[in-house]
Amino acid sequence: MSSKVIEINNVNFSYGKQKALLNITFDVKEHQFTAVIGPNGGGKSTLVKLMLGLLEPNSGSVKILNMQPKNAREFVGYVPQYIDVNLDFPITVLDVVMMGNKKEHLKESISIFKRLFPIKYSDIEIKCAYSTLQKVGMQDYIDRKIGDLSGGQRQRVMIARALCSHPKLLILDEPTSNIDPQGQKEIFELLKELNRDLTIFVVSHDLAVVSEYAQKIIYINREAFVHDLGNDTLGATSKSNGHFCQVEMMQMLKGLKR
Ligand SMILES: Nc1ncnc2c1ncn2[C@@H]1O[C@H](COP(=O)(O)OP(=O)(O)OP(=O)(O)O)[C@@H](O)[C@H]1O
Ligand SMILES: [Mg+2]
Repeated sequence: MSSKVIEINNVNFSYGKQKALLNITFDVKEHQFTAVIGPNGGGKSTLVKLMLGLLEPNSGSVKILNMQPKNAREFVGYVPQYIDVNLDFPITVLDVVMMGNKKEHLKESISIFKRLFPIKYSDIEIKCAYSTLQKVGMQDYIDRKIGDLSGGQRQRVMIARALCSHPKLLILDEPTSNIDPQGQKEIFELLKELNRDLTIFVVSHDLAVVSEYAQKIIYINREAFVHDLGNDTLGATSKSNGHFCQVEMMQMLKGLKR
C-alpha cells in the first residue's frame, strides 16, 4: 500500500454555480501532522467533506489510503466542526463514544428509541470505550451526561468517539473553536500524542498553535497553497500571498524552522 494517506489531484468543486474549490492538489504521507488554515468560507469544510466521501468532486480525484473516500470510511476518524449530538438528550459519555464503534459511524445519530429502550453494551464494548476514553484522559467521566461537560471535555469525548474504530487517519474540523487558549493547547498536545500512531489532519484558525504542531500547513481560500515545514526549500514553494509571510514569520519567531 502507498505510504500516502491522502492524495488530492486537481480537484474542483462547486455548489451549484458557486465555485468552492479550484484545482486543489496536495498529498499527505503516513504519520504527517497537517493543518489547514484559511478564512471563513474559504472551503476548508468542503475539502473535509470531499475527503470523507460526503461530497464528490466535479473533476479531479480524491484518494484516501489509495481508496475512494467512501470505501476508506472505516479507516477514518472524524470530529465535525459542529457537535452533532443533541446536548439536551440525557446521553452519557459512553453512549457518545459507542456511536463511533461502527463502520457507519459517520452517519450515526442517536435516536430517541435508543433512549427509551436503552441498549445494553457488552463488557467488551465497554472495555473498548473505556480504553479509548483513557487515551483522551476522560475515563473517569464515562457515566456523565455529555451535556454536563465543559466544551474542552466534550471535545475530548468527540475525539474518543472518532478513535473508537481504530482509524489510521484522524480528521478534525476546527476542534478547538470555543475553547480557551489553555484548553486549545491541551487538545493539540493530545493530537501530538495521537500522531505517534495516526495521521492527523486538522482544520484550525489559530496559526500560532498550528505552526507549533504541524509539519505541513495548507492555506485554503478556494485555491490551496501548501507550506511544507519539514522541507528546507520552504521559500521555493512560497507565493507572494500574505499567509506565507505569516507562516514564515511565525517560524522565525519561534526559531522552529527545521
Ligand atoms: N451546502 C452548501 N450549499 C451551498 N454553498 C455552500 C454549502 N456549504 C458551503 N457552501 C459555501 O461554500 C463556501 C465554502 O464553505 P466551507 O464551509 O467549506 O468554508 P470553511 O472554510 O469551512 O469556512 P468556516 O471557516 O466558516 O468554517 C462558502 O462560500 C459557503 O457559503
Ligand atoms: Mg468550516
